[in-house]
Amino acid sequence: MTIFYFTGTGNSLWAAGIISEATGAAVVSIPQVIGEQREYKDDVIGFVYPQYAVGLPKMVRKFITQNTFSADYMFAVDLYAHIRAGALGEIAGLLPIDYGTYLKTPWNFIFALNPPRNPEAVLKNARVKLNRVIEDISARKGKRVRPSKRVGNATKYFGDGKFKITDNCTRCGMCVNVCPAENIELRDKPVFGSNCETCYACVNHCPAHAIYANNATLNRRQYRNPNVTLAEIIAGRKNQNAMPHTP
Ligand SMILES: Cc1cc2nc3c(=O)[nH]c(=O)nc-3n(C[C@H](O)[C@H](O)[C@H](O)COP(=O)(O)O)c2cc1C
Repeated sequence: MTIFYFTGTGNSLWAAGIISEATGAAVVSIPQVIGEQREYKDDVIGFVYPQYAVGLPKMVRKFITQNTFSADYMFAVDLYAHIRAGALGEIAGLLPIDYGTYLKTPWNFIFALNPPRNPEAVLKNARVKLNRVIEDISARKGKRVRPSKRVGNATKYFGDGKFKITDNCTRCGMCVNVCPAENIELRDKPVFGSNCETCYACVNHCPAHAIYANNATLNRRQYRNPNVTLAEIIAGRKNQNAMPHTP
């Protein structure tokens, strides 16, 4: 079994890790293999990723369309926080997903709302649901989702990487290290390219809370899954030593 995951703030890595621990699946971080063109073959292939504005992260869509996948059984776990709105249909429109399910996880999109005060409570319920998911995929249970041709990701309406930097920036390079898209370059301040995934890893991990797309973001709490370390997030990025000094 192979699980491909994409994460901004660790929820998807956490969920993929739990499924892997129970099933022995290999876990592959999509940012590390993006750009390669391969045929992935395994008995079971799964995808675990956050939902962005009711659609797939751009990199997940790109990864799926640029590679071929053959498996006896394919599953998708779509992490959301508040609104699902049939987003699983998008991945089912690209791949023959035998089992598709949503997983309610803490909110990380601090452009729009604060994350929950007690993320552990949300994660506790998610953990219970993951046990069912593990049972189901181990039994190769079917849970079809209606395929859709819709490209759901509407993050262009929500800041879409148009980030600004406050004077609190210390040029520590954290944003460069956590970016899954190698989209940030450190000059006198971080400079963003045109390849943003809107994963909010940079916004949520900045030690000075200096990265924002709207003013409200600066007053919101930052989020990372409490069971995931910063080192684990960075280990899933393509260039793990982007900056010499990781704080
Ligand atoms: C740009 C953006 C858009 C999001 N859109 C949605 C959404 O449409 N519905 C929802 O319930 N959660 C949405 N979220 C919340 C994430 O899907 C959720 O917090 C997820 O668990 C984050 O996973 P990660 O920690 O692996 O990055 C969005 C998050 C971001 C950053």
